[in-house]
Amino acid sequence: MEKDSILREVTLWLRDFCDQFRSVHVDHLERKWINIALLTIALLVGIITIDAFLHSVNPPGRVETIDSAKLHLSKEFAESNLGVQIDEKGEIVVRMVAGRYSFFPKHISVPAETKMTFRWVSMDVLHGVHIPMTNMSTMIVPGYVAQITTSFPKPGEYPMLCNEYCGLGHNHMWSNVSVIAKEDWVKPEIVKVNKEAGKGAGDE
Ligand code: CUA
Repeated sequence: MEKDSILREVTLWLRDFCDQFRSVHVDHLERKWINIALLTIALLVGIITIDAFLHSVNPPGRVETIDSAKLHLSKEFAESNLGVQIDEKGEIVVRMVAGRYSFFPKHISVPAETKMTFRWVSMDVLHGVHIPMTNMSTMIVPGYVAQITTSFPKPGEYPMLCNEYCGLGHNHMWSNVSVIAKEDWVKPEIVKVNKEAGKGAGDE
């Protein structure tokens, strides 16, 4: 009953609004441009929506949770499992922990022109990660796994900086990324990581 009356109210209000809108004199040319602007907005929103579904674009937070206080007990983000690895599918996965005031490990080497997935977690407060001259930038929210898949087009030395103020040492929080020519890069051994186990340990 309640729902019906609210719905009726909203319908009436909308009808009233449309009537008022129609009664306002809008110049023919102006109306045309309003329509073009609305269509452009609809087109852009449409493209974003379709792209989000087709390419499963989602925020880096991905709502994948992890207990920040128990990272050392999680299989995935235990100290021995950090850094650059090749998973069972042959893809490069880089796992890093952000904490005041560094990223661990402090230095990583990755190949240029190769797709790789970064997975970060914070062990204390909110941090950010930014690699200048690349499209790499995301927040690392405590309690969540931040994930970005990217590739570095050019070899070189890149800093990996924290871009969220996290305390007095924020300015000194960085790691180094060596991007090495594809043919010179030495593959780490394949390590199988049970992602589920890593995830579960944090939730216990
Ligand atoms: Cu970590 Cu700023």
